Amino acid sequence: MSAVAILRSGLLLRARRLIAPVRVAICLRPQSDRKRLMSSTDLLQIILASRPDGRPAPANFRLERAPLPTPGEGEVLLKVLYLSLDPYMRGRMSAAKSYAAPTEIGAVMEGGTVAEVLESRHPGFAAGDIVLSFSGWQSHALAKGDQLRKLDPAAAPVTTALGVLGMPGFTAYAGLLTIGQPKKGETVVVAAASGPVGSAVGQIARIKGARAVGIAGGPEKCAVVRDTFGFDAVIDHKAPDFAAQLAAACPDGIDVYFENVGGKVWDAVFPLLNTFARIPVCGLVSQYNASGDFEGPDMLPVLMRQVLSKSLLIRGFIQREFAAQRPDFEREMAAWIASGAVKYKEDIVEGLDQAPDAFIRLLEGGNFGKLIVKL
Ligand SMILES: NC(=O)c1ccc[n+]([C@@H]2O[C@H](COP(=O)([O-])OP(=O)(O)OC[C@H]3O[C@@H](n4cnc5c(N)ncnc54)[C@H](OP(=O)(O)O)[C@@H]3O)[C@@H](O)[C@H]2O)c1
Repeated sequence: MSAVAILRSGLLLRARRLIAPVRVAICLRPQSDRKRLMSSTDLLQIILASRPDGRPAPANFRLERAPLPTPGEGEVLLKVLYLSLDPYMRGRMSAAKSYAAPTEIGAVMEGGTVAEVLESRHPGFAAGDIVLSFSGWQSHALAKGDQLRKLDPAAAPVTTALGVLGMPGFTAYAGLLTIGQPKKGETVVVAAASGPVGSAVGQIARIKGARAVGIAGGPEKCAVVRDTFGFDAVIDHKAPDFAAQLAAACPDGIDVYFENVGGKVWDAVFPLLNTFARIPVCGLVSQYNASGDFEGPDMLPVLMRQVLSKSLLIRGFIQREFAAQRPDFEREMAAWIASGAVKYKEDIVEGLDQAPDAFIRLLEGGNFGKLIVKL
């Protein structure tokens, strides 16, 4: 089924326990078989079958079926409604040392979800409650109450808990305001600007009085970044003269570069950085599928010389380190969405079995907005 892009703006009224049942492995089915498969009341899970070498392939994933689990004391049984697909999941597929442990081979792929409580043996939850959970790429899950946050569907579309009002929106807020600290009149540059992190970065920068320059892949994405998200300028990184266009769009240099992608975008940004520029290093998505050592000349001496001579601040971060700012984020972001100062875009794909393909495309720019799987 084709991806459905939903553009919503303005109006805002305001661990899983992995069971180990007998599993039946199922090949990822053609679309015609999916309805029968997905209408099952069994538990369906996408398992990490093997670790990718470079670009992930469908064979790295396996769809399995198992009986529905029964909640124990203090647990709830969840039916997953929406699954968030995020670039960090590529890191979990790899055994390389990182800030989080890899997903084990044979385990369910990890991921944030919005779910409905089907059955509760926890006093804080009742059947029908809608919750934010981290139940992963599966149709149902058992969860303990303290792993869940109740959502109010009347306050905001529940999918926003996975995007603009969830982890990606918070990443933009905390990384930009804490490390980037944009000031009135400064130039803020961000790539992956049509995605949930980049689009929020540019819009928050503008709220703070800065000039937002976005970088995106292709004319359709660039049009949304400029016309819907209101960036002051946008450059297509696929253009042959991308670096020259970026320089022309930043006549006063770059004061904040919110790093989402690395690679040739970083190469074009680096010479334009002003003295005292701040660079929150949020992600390097252009490198996530790289295998082996990076090729090319050693640029570290050039980088360090500029760090020194221009007093650059380059600071990596993982959003959870700023968790104390979460209440401020939720209050401010809700108000910005309600006032129309922040808009967002979702890309919703239907069917759990479509998650692997959608995820593979995400790492190559195949998504258009916050990528979510509707189960
Ligand atoms: N540090 C943290 O705590 C944290 C938390 C969340 C996300 N992140 C990072 O934030 C970044 C954005 O995440 P997101 O969820 O908002 O993703 P996203 O924008 O929805 O998707 C990734 C986008 O990256 C762009 N891209 C992919 N390969 C590229 C390349 N070679 N060169 C330039 N652009 C490329 C594509 O956009 P175009 O088609 O426009 O190029 C693609 O759509 C990622 O690096 C992610 O890992 C970090």
